[in-house]
Amino acid sequence: MKYQEIISHMKLGEKAELMSGKDTWRTKGFSEYGIPELFLSDGPHGLRKQAGASDHLGLNASIPATCFPTAATVANSWDEDLGEKIGEYLGEEAQALGVHIILGPGLNVKRNPLCGRNFEYFSEDPYLSGKMAAAYIRGIQKKGVGACPKHFAVNSQELRRMSNNSVVDERTLREIYLTGFEIAVKEGKPKAIMTSYNRINGVYANENPYLLQDILKKDWGFDGIVMSDWGGSNDHVEGVQSGSHLEMPSTGKMGACQIERAVKKKHLDENILDERVGEFLKTVFQISGEWKKTEMFDVEEHHQFARKAASESVVLLKNEDKLLPLRHGEKVAVIGEFADIPRYQGAGSSLVNTTMLDTILNSIEKSGLDLAAYAPGYTRKGNENGNLIKNAVKMAQNAGVVLVFAGLDENSESEGLDREHMRIPQKHTELIHAVSEVNENVIVALSAGAVVEMPWEDKVKAIVHGYLGGQAGASAMLDVLTGVVNPGGRLSESYPFFYEDVPSRRYYPGKEKTSEYREGLYVGYRYYDTVEKGVRYPFGYGLSYTTFAYADLEIKETGVSLVITNTGNQDGSDVVQMYIGLPGGEVFRPKKELKGFRKVFLKAGERRKIEIPFDDKAFRFLIHLLESGKQKQESI
Ligand code: GLC
Repeated sequence: MKYQEIISHMKLGEKAELMSGKDTWRTKGFSEYGIPELFLSDGPHGLRKQAGASDHLGLNASIPATCFPTAATVANSWDEDLGEKIGEYLGEEAQALGVHIILGPGLNVKRNPLCGRNFEYFSEDPYLSGKMAAAYIRGIQKKGVGACPKHFAVNSQELRRMSNNSVVDERTLREIYLTGFEIAVKEGKPKAIMTSYNRINGVYANENPYLLQDILKKDWGFDGIVMSDWGGSNDHVEGVQSGSHLEMPSTGKMGACQIERAVKKKHLDENILDERVGEFLKTVFQISGEWKKTEMFDVEEHHQFARKAASESVVLLKNEDKLLPLRHGEKVAVIGEFADIPRYQGAGSSLVNTTMLDTILNSIEKSGLDLAAYAPGYTRKGNENGNLIKNAVKMAQNAGVVLVFAGLDENSESEGLDREHMRIPQKHTELIHAVSEVNENVIVALSAGAVVEMPWEDKVKAIVHGYLGGQAGASAMLDVLTGVVNPGGRLSESYPFFYEDVPSRRYYPGKEKTSEYREGLYVGYRYYDTVEKGVRYPFGYGLSYTTFAYADLEIKETGVSLVITNTGNQDGSDVVQMYIGLPGGEVFRPKKELKGFRKVFLKAGERRKIEIPFDDKAFRFLIHLLESGKQKQESI
């Protein structure tokens, strides 16, 4: 092959240089061999391309790009087509901004609601995570841009993320923390993958031959570039030996010198280096062959799609007395600073410099609602003297309907730190309680990237969760509140009543050197259902402005089928979810596990037969029989 010939002409030092970045964002090129540089850039829900000063924490400015809803938000759509379309839009923007590989999607399992980066990940369930991630990857790569799912693997806390050791049993590792990546790799065929910072059972992910060779390459057939997280290469020679191709960012000449010295001292077989360089160049040439630079992308079209994506991901949690949707011309009081300064994305390396930004206050007139009054009710800053709540209450007293915008602010959740508790800011809670004392028609619209406690749930009539809706999230929320869009979101993570109900709470986050995954398989609904612990809102839950009926369920050799009918008077969507369990099975397992789903859009009165096939994961569980090295698959 072309690159095999190149390798035969390259000096040892040149081959060694290829295994490290050229700078913060570029891979090393050699024009004399026709090897191009590739530009890598965050992030999972929008491009964060830095043209000037560079960093991997979202500190320096980046070129404007569309901020789509985050993964945690879009996961609630359960719509793989939507995910793929977002991927295409991300790919288009990458072509326009000169980016060859997008560092995303992020798909780590939400082991615990307090992980600071949960906003950037899809779900507590590996199957939903993997399917949505594969969709994004397909979409991005349709545009000739490489995708790079992350962080591989078992990276479910931010505390001491660069040194923490995730201690997890083999079955939990395979079934919970790797299955999402397995689906993403096998069904998305990503051109790259990013290893996580942490150790897994004592071995750093980026230097872990079991993870990178046995599982990723041999079991799953991955043939792209394995890159470290930024600063996640701990022993570069070990990394190359174990299957990692690229330490990022550049370590100056140090990385190349380490490789060269190791080969000369016979600590690294040059054939291994040549194998890595060949694997690296294969992907570099594939991407550079498919990629093409385009002019500016259509800002307005991308913005409108971000709005569609956000509105299809909104979850209607409560709607007493069918208070929603609001009628055209309804007089509403709007309370909450989020209505003026929206909370629409997370913080850290995924931070997008938006092309534009909708707010409730600047979009409400167009929505057809009549804004009677607005009060901030709280501000992001700390100490208020309480007048803000008093003013909001005074205003709410005379309003027909009150819209309260609350949730988690920028200080509550971010890359680099985990949350201390599962509550929304105290002043948001106090505001909701105070307003619901004086008005019985209170609607709470939440913006948060992760699970929150809602002790005020019984005090309000309606709750709509927009998660982090991206730059068009506010207009998307108004589309749902006014019925322009019938909410079809379903929760992609469980909402326990309080943090004390969470199975991993006693040992999360791991504060010392290790983080022990003692809850094993019992993450999220796998725990709550199995121990029959009630939750405020279950995984897969969401209401609609219409109703649906299921009938004629059939279980066949190949899968299940049923007939779903939209029995209401509004068009709408539902998500048919297939769970599989084996009560009294030979081997312990969660009561039920998601093994298939279908998002269905139906007109009022329409009925449709839905089939969900059993796939290779439907009945499997993965006991790694050490003596035989085989995986036992028990049929149900
Ligand atoms: C960060 C993140 C990773 C990101 C990378 C580059 O530390 O962990 O998700 O892609 O560095 O910014």
